[in-house]
This record gives sequence, C-alpha cells and structure tokens, in this order.
Amino acid sequence: MYPSSLLLFLCLSAFVKCVSGSEWCYTGCGHTPNHWGDLPGSVCGGNRQSPININASMVQMDPGLLNLTFVNLLSQNIKSITNDGHTVKCTLGGNNSEVSGGGLNGTYSTIQFHFHWGDTEYHPGSEHMIDGQRYPMEMHIVNLKKGLTLEQAMANPQGIAVLGFFINATEDAAPSEPWSVLTSYLTNITGTEARVNNTISINDLIGSVDFTKFYRYMGSLTTPNCTEAVVWTVFHEPINIGKNLIQRFPLKTGLTNVYRPIQNLNNRQVFATFLPASHPWCYDHCVYSPSHWNLLPQSSCDGNRQSPVNIQTQNVVMDKHLDAFTYTNFDNKKAIKHITNTGHTVECSLNENVVEVSGGGLEYSYSTLQLHFHWGTAQDPGSEHTVDSKRYPMEMHIVSKRKDLTLDAALRTPNGLAVLGFFIETNPTSSLSVTNGWKILTNHLSAIQNISSEVEVTEELSIDDLLGNVNRAAYYRYNGSLTTPSCNEAVVWTVFKESVKVDQNLIMMFPKQTGYSSVFRPTQALNTRTIYTTTSASSAPGPIKLLLLFVCLYVLL
Ligand SMILES: *[C@@H]1O[C@H](CO)[C@@H](O)[C@H](O)[C@H]1NC(C)=O
Ligand SMILES: *[C@@H]1O[C@H](CO)[C@@H](O)[C@H](O)[C@H]1NC(C)=O
Ligand SMILES: *[C@@H]1O[C@H](CO)[C@@H](O)[C@H](O)[C@H]1NC(C)=O
Ligand SMILES: *[C@@H]1O[C@H](CO)[C@@H](O)[C@H](O)[C@H]1NC(C)=O
Ligand SMILES: *[C@@H]1O[C@H](CO)[C@@H](O)[C@H](O)[C@H]1NC(C)=O
Ligand SMILES: *[C@@H]1O[C@H](CO)[C@@H](O)[C@H](O)[C@H]1NC(C)=O
Ligand SMILES: [Zn+2]
Ligand SMILES: [Zn+2]
Repeated sequence: MYPSSLLLFLCLSAFVKCVSGSEWCYTGCGHTPNHWGDLPGSVCGGNRQSPININASMVQMDPGLLNLTFVNLLSQNIKSITNDGHTVKCTLGGNNSEVSGGGLNGTYSTIQFHFHWGDTEYHPGSEHMIDGQRYPMEMHIVNLKKGLTLEQAMANPQGIAVLGFFINATEDAAPSEPWSVLTSYLTNITGTEARVNNTISINDLIGSVDFTKFYRYMGSLTTPNCTEAVVWTVFHEPINIGKNLIQRFPLKTGLTNVYRPIQNLNNRQVFATFLPASHPWCYDHCVYSPSHWNLLPQSSCDGNRQSPVNIQTQNVVMDKHLDAFTYTNFDNKKAIKHITNTGHTVECSLNENVVEVSGGGLEYSYSTLQLHFHWGTAQDPGSEHTVDSKRYPMEMHIVSKRKDLTLDAALRTPNGLAVLGFFIETNPTSSLSVTNGWKILTNHLSAIQNISSEVEVTEELSIDDLLGNVNRAAYYRYNGSLTTPSCNEAVVWTVFKESVKVDQNLIMMFPKQTGYSSVFRPTQALNTRTIYTTTSASSAPGPIKLLLLFVCLYVLL
C-alpha cells in the first residue's frame, strides 16, 4: 500500500506540471486564476468548479449522509512538509490512511494535505466561503478512490475526495503546540521535502471540530487543471488557532493569497448533514414545510402542546375565571409603527410599551408587540384555528409578551406570551369603521410586495379600527405554542368566538399583493389538553345582550 501511495503522490505532483506545460500562479504571472482556463488541457472554465460560496439558506439536508469513517488518517504521524511554490504540502507516514462513509462512494486513500491562506495584513484566504464569509485559512486533505490509478481517478466524477477544514484566527493566541511544531518547518525554499521529526497527527491539528457537521457537493480540484473529479466534504466548524500562527504561513513561505476565487455554483445542489441556523422554512414548496419544521434547529414543533388546534365545541369546558379583558391603548391611533412583509406574513409592529392587555383570566399583564395575519387562497379559507373543523377565510393574531420578562425569557416560559386570535370572515355589509381600518391597512400592501420590505404607517390607525365592535367577551382559552418555527410552547391562547367581518376584496389583497397564499399551519393534536370557554355570552353576541348580561351580573353581586 505504502509504495503505491507514495508513487501516486509523486505522480500527482508531476501530473500538474506535465499536463499543463506552462506555469500557473495566483498572482504575478501570465496565468493568474482568470486565465487558468487558457492553459493547455485545462477544464478550469468548466461548470462544476471549486471553490464555491456555500449559501446556508440554499443547502439541502441529506439524512443519507452518515458519519465518516477514518482509518489511520487522523492518528498517523505527519512525515514530511514541502513548499512546492504554490502551497505547503504534507504527507503522512505509516501506511493505509483511508476515509469512507459519510455518503462517499467507496473508500478513498489519503495522498497529501495542504493549505490555502491570505497575506500578512490579515487578509483571509480560505477557498470556500460560507454565506459570503471567508475564513483566514483552509486545509485540504486529498484522497484518491481506492483501486483506481491516478489517471482513472481523474476521469471519474468521484475519483477524488477532498476534506476541507476552515481555520479561524483567535485573538488570545492560546499556544497550540502541534501548530507551533508544524509551522516551525515552514520555509521559503521551494521543492525540498523536510522530514518531520516530531510526532504530530492530523488529529492534533484539528482539535475538537465536529466531524458529523459537513457540507457536500460535487466540484473540482482548485488548481490547474481543475479536474472535475472531486467529491467535496467541507466541515462546518473551523479549527481555531492563534492568529500569530496563521501569519507564519505567508511570513515564512513568502507565498501570499494562495487561494482560488469563488466559482459559479451553476445548477449544483449543496447538501449538508445538518440544518444551518439560517435555513428557511415555508408553508409549501420548500424542503422545510410544516411536517419537517421539527428538523429545524432549536425546534419545538413536534412538542405536545402545539398550535393551532381544532376547537371541538362539544368538548370545551366552561371556566368562570375567564372574565373580561382590559385593553390599554387598543384605541391609540399612533400605536402601529410599521407594516412588514416577512415572507411568511404581513406583520404590523407596534411602538414599544404602548399597547397592553390584561384580565381575561390571564395571570399577568402583557405588552403587545405586533399583530399579523394568516390567509388562504381565493378559493380556500386560511385561518389557523378551526371550530368544529370549520376553517375561516383569515385569522388575525395579536401577539403580546409578559411585561415582567424579556422576549428571550418569555419564549422559554409556558405563559410568556399571550396571543389573541380573531377569525376574519367576509361580509359585504361590514361596518364602516372596520372597512376604513382595513382599507388603510391593505392600501400599504402594494408598497411591501418585496419580501423584507417595510412601510411606515403615517395614517391614524388603531387596533380597535381593525376589530370594530366584535364581541370580545366570548372566547376560547388553551395552552399552546407559536404557530411558526421554532413553535415555542410559550403561548396562552385566546380565540374569540365571533368573527370580524371584512369585505372580500380587502381580504383578497393579502394573497394578491404579497404573492403568497395558504400561510397557515395545519391543526395540531390536542393531546391531553383542555380547551376552556367563557361561561357567558357564548351564544349571545352583540352589545345589547352583553349589556343586559352585565347588568344581570351586577345585580347578582
Ligand atoms: C455519528 O457520530 C455521532 C458522534 O460521534 C454519534 O452520536 C452518532 O450516533 C453517529 N451516527 C451514526 C449514524 O453512526
Ligand atoms: C459508485 O462507484 C461505482 C464504482 O466506481 C460506480 O459504478 C457507481 O456508479 C458509483 N455510484 C454513484 C452513485 O456514483
Ligand atoms: C472565530 O474566531 C473568532 C475570534 O476568536 C470568534 O469570535 C468566532 O466565534 C470564531 N468562529 C467560529 C465559527 O468558531
Ligand atoms: C528566505 O528566508 C530567509 C530568512 O528566513 C531570507 O533571508 C531570504 O531572503 C528569503 N528568501 C526569499 C526568496 O524570500
Ligand atoms: C422590489 O424589488 C425590485 C428588485 O429588487 C425593485 O426594482 C423594486 O423597486 C422593489 N419594489 C418595491 C415596491 O420596493
Ligand atoms: C396552562 O398550564 C398551566 C400550567 O400547567 C395550568 O395551570 C393552566 O391551568 C393551563 N391553562 C389552560 C387554559 O389549560
Ligand atoms: Zn487545496
Ligand atoms: Zn400567527
């Protein structure tokens, strides 16, 4: 095994020079990266080139990518270091260093590993980037498919497996003995192989990097001839070393900015063994639709007190503690600050510490943060909660946080948030004041057609204007969750029985102007939860009956 690996290594070094026939470089010669494609026999202008920028939001999780298996690769001592004029290459001693598993097609034998870096002015020089961020350095462990000659491997779309590790610079310069030893061998003399007398292994260099978190895509060698034979494994976590050690690479070798610029992804998909934190979720037409929200980082979406739910009226339990709410500043005409298209909904953010809600059986006072909407399509209704399986056209959520908690703490507290849910139904004879309120709101939608766009609300518009005289004394109450990721089980839910009546044309502005529809989560299992209901007025909405009830209660007392 050993002699043949050595031979392969020598061949690979020779190969580049023999085939290209001319010299290439990163800077200061005729064939800089933009001109590598002109070199004889080069495929550097191809369409599966490396390196790439890994856009975390476009990554697809592939559960088929299991753990990598290493044989000797990590533990073997480093045998030699060579400055080859482009980089610093290392070889391993012993024999039979291999990597397999992790979705690789077969076993690969290690040939060499080398580095890419920036310059002495701290300009970073990793080859791959994550979300446009370049790390100070990158290490590549090059492996050849077992049983193939170099020529066969170069001709095989997965003939070579490269393992890429980012190297991050830390300020504290905590001395890393293995990196100190390795960099002590760096030299500006090219072509001479230095034997490493100390015992250091790749394991010593890598430290605590999590091998289970990596990206995978099909690419190429990042130096001429840029052969498109590489299955890339790029680890998510960087190796952290002191920046003084990183600086030794350009300082001691005299080589600077030895990395190839980012190449086009073209139609390639990047896979990952995990979900990057910035991964997008959706209601439909993406990998992370509601049934997969539980796979998102820090997700509670598969918990057992999830929302929304179907409210079965025959099972609800009357609770006499569910009294009237106290609404503070719901009539404030300046409370709504912005309207934002979040890409999932239209959200009205409120000025801080203005609007409040308490009472209604809530044990705390809650400060109202925002309100937003859930809707369906022109044909199908889109409320989140359903009542006896009936779905309403729309639902409005008024989200408040316990006044005594920070938002972070509230999200971790079972009653940290209180959400008031109002069903929206179409009715051509909706009240004039409600129509005016919804007109002001929906008039802004044309200005926020782009996702993440925001518009300031300058007109007078209060929450009461959107609710009108809907009966707020009759409602359902249960313990639930946010209905979007991370689905925190932190919500005391109030769902009002009577719906707000809004003109159909105004409701339709939401899907029309935002370009997305059916933005509601399917109902979740109730499990062991009970849904409570107010005792009064449940079948007697309307101000007059309410007033009567109030009078009766008063008399009773
Ligand atoms: C992969 O490795 C991790 C950590 O070593 C371990 O927790 C996990 O069970 C392994 N997974 C498989 C499928 O072997
Ligand atoms: C895996 O490798 C074998 C042998 O080289 C080849 O026949 C097969 O097509 C490869 N599979 C994939 C998915 O590339
Ligand atoms: C990189 O190093 C910086 C500085 O020490 C640190 O703040 C940052 O968290 C590190 N990045 C990663 C991903 O470890
Ligand atoms: C190589 O480094 C030595 C000192 O380590 C220095 O004297 C010499 O000028 C350098 N040569 C080149 C070509 O940079
Ligand atoms: C939406 O984005 C496009 C392209 O980015 C831009 O041209 C357009 O002006 C934006 N529209 C609005 C209403 O902001
Ligand atoms: C919510 O949960 C708390 C704590 O378990 C419990 O005391 C309370 O009665 C529940 N409220 C409802 C409406 O189920
Ligand atoms: Zn490389
Ligand atoms: Zn909502």
